[in-house]
Amino acid sequence: MNTNRQKSSARAAPTGKLAGLTARLAEAEATLRAIRTGEVDTVMVAGKEGSQVFTLDGAEHAYRVLIESMNEGALMLTADKTILFANQCFARMVKCPLEQVTGSSFRRFLSDADRATLKRLLKRSHPSGAKIQMLLHASNEIQVPAHLSIRPLARNGFKSATFGIVVTDMTEARLNEERLRALTHRVVQAQEAERGRVALDLHDHITQLLCAVLVRSQTLADQLPAREGPLKREALQLRKLLGQTADEVERISRNLRPGVLEQLGLGMVLRETSTEFARRTGVSLKLSCVSLTMRLPGDIELTLYRILQEALQNVALHARARHVKVSLTKLDGRVQLVIHDDGISFDLEHPPARPSKQGQLGLLSMRERAAYVGGTLSIRSAPGQGTTLTVQIPLG
Ligand SMILES: Nc1ncnc2c1ncn2[C@@H]1O[C@H](COP(=O)(O)OP(=O)(O)O)[C@@H](O)[C@H]1O
Ligand SMILES: [Mg+2]
Repeated sequence: MNTNRQKSSARAAPTGKLAGLTARLAEAEATLRAIRTGEVDTVMVAGKEGSQVFTLDGAEHAYRVLIESMNEGALMLTADKTILFANQCFARMVKCPLEQVTGSSFRRFLSDADRATLKRLLKRSHPSGAKIQMLLHASNEIQVPAHLSIRPLARNGFKSATFGIVVTDMTEARLNEERLRALTHRVVQAQEAERGRVALDLHDHITQLLCAVLVRSQTLADQLPAREGPLKREALQLRKLLGQTADEVERISRNLRPGVLEQLGLGMVLRETSTEFARRTGVSLKLSCVSLTMRLPGDIELTLYRILQEALQNVALHARARHVKVSLTKLDGRVQLVIHDDGISFDLEHPPARPSKQGQLGLLSMRERAAYVGGTLSIRSAPGQGTTLTVQIPLG
């Protein structure tokens, strides 16, 4: 009997063990299923301070539904960047199954530089949060431009801090930006070509005609006898006016033609443009210009010239300024053009719309021109401080 009992208990032991294992397997399967469907509500993180369990309260399941229906990635991280919770949208963004995302480190999706940035951000995290652009390294080796909005979360009794991150995929936005940039560039190019054509027409036809009329009017004035005093004076006046008109047409034509830069060089053209602006508008203009004995590449000279023209046109049209300062400097490996006016300034985010709703391409084309030669245009405008445009273009 004893032996039998021993035998049966020996058989019973593995059965009990098996049942235990089966139960654990079922439990593991249920957990995996929950993770796969995003229903997991408990994550255990092994850290320096030992294992820690992070749990979503029952009430937070309602938020889960909301988060799952978002078109943006949502994450909850520990301070050491372990992903406690992620939604399906984030998993799709990084092309990684949700069960492999949850519990892993967020660092795996970042470059070394972005890891360091994130570390700094989490360390000095502000309650109102931080916003940053990063490139997420998806599992398929593709880099996804993303906008991260990071906020520290309430501790909810957890030993260490946790952070909520909303991740917006910027791929489409970047594509649209590129499309817009290409379009703006084409507009600028078309504008440049059109200016060239108009300049040529003005120079070849209008100026030629005006010169012919000018010569005729001089002949007329010369042929009028002295006794026709008033008539002769009128003819001379007409000749003078025609001379001024021809000069003005030639000036417009020169402003439109980039060829003038090739002949005179940027320094000289800036000087001429500034003098002409002050004369025409009555606004005082102080120009400080590096002695540009060494010529800059043609496309950079044209960019700076066109930006100055556009900026001065804005000052004349909108700023109601009394003084303008223009400076062209060469810094290490860069050329910098600054145009400052002491006018009424404007709201950069919402520049006042023109009643005609036409134009308003000036600022856009200035930015585009600067960007096209690898440079930047920054604008500061504030009441009482006027407007300052700074263009920086790298050389060589
Ligand atoms: N220097 C300036 N001072 C005041 N307002 C300015 C200045 N430059 C630009 N603005 C404002 O910004 C708007 C946009 O300028 P811009 O893009 O050149 O278009 P446009 O000159 O055709 O209106 C202008 O209509 C004007 O309201
Ligand atoms: Mg303008």
